[in-house]
Amino acid sequence: MSQRQLPDPPDQYGVAGHPVSHSWSPFIHGMFAKATEQNLVYRLFDISPDDFRREALRLFTSGVQGLNITLPHKQAAAELVNELTPRAQRAQAVNTIALSKDSSLVGDNTDGLGLTADLERNMGFRLSDTRVLILGAGGAVRGILAPLLERELRGLVIANRTPSRAHKLAREFADLGQIVGCGFAELTGPPYDLIINATSASLQGEMPEMPVGLVGEETICYDMAYGRGHTPFTLWAKSLHAARTTKGWGMLVEQAAESFLLWRGIRPDTQPVLRALAQHT
Ligand code: ATR
Repeated sequence: MSQRQLPDPPDQYGVAGHPVSHSWSPFIHGMFAKATEQNLVYRLFDISPDDFRREALRLFTSGVQGLNITLPHKQAAAELVNELTPRAQRAQAVNTIALSKDSSLVGDNTDGLGLTADLERNMGFRLSDTRVLILGAGGAVRGILAPLLERELRGLVIANRTPSRAHKLAREFADLGQIVGCGFAELTGPPYDLIINATSASLQGEMPEMPVGLVGEETICYDMAYGRGHTPFTLWAKSLHAARTTKGWGMLVEQAAESFLLWRGIRPDTQPVLRALAQHT
């Protein structure tokens, strides 16, 4: 008697954060899975900081094969995993965990590749020989510093509300290139070529007070935060006649594609997802 074969259950993935309900990652990975014919589900896991270690380990022992890690767990995730890829080691922050065949957890950081792919491939921006200003010195910045410094920038300044955090990051990455840390009030012109907002101020509906002269008509202003409409940062940049303002949708999709590659061995085409998001947002 022939037995009807049941389909294999889908492989399980997801994103762990707090809060996480606003995340577009299930939509993005759902489109990637469909386009590449991968049998997987991708879910949201809201985990508070106190429970992160226990809950993340429980997810992996219950069959989850990979997790994206978002705010505020990226540094805790670097401490959780058994092994770090060189770029995650450098960042001391993890945005992707993969369960390997021997059941060990590998932590990677695809944020930097996501940002540089968006700037270079999607926006056609050449980073080499540019002056770049990053606002913020938290976990979101750790992953992007090494890939930016590899581009042989003319200069990289990290400015933060708490200057000591910016000084610390600049010291930590000084071996990779020209990098300076400071407070917002110490910033001066001439206008930068690229300003990246990596503070979480936008999420609170705020734009920190900035000195004049940072934005000119050639300046590209990139908010790593994403959401509908303008952010306080993009409004600030527009009011100063920046050449272009953009939000982090492209970075989100490109870092997701790199995570997908790590988990499934295929890098999906990001353009259809970017087009779909442009219609939704
Ligand atoms: P993330 O992982 O998103 O970087 P984080 O480590 O909490 O999260 O860092 C948040 C960043 O946003 C920090 O640079 C923080 O500045 P401080 O180091 O001074 O805390 C910055 N930030 C948050 N709210 C801000 C605000 N209202 N104005 C200016 N900077 C703000």
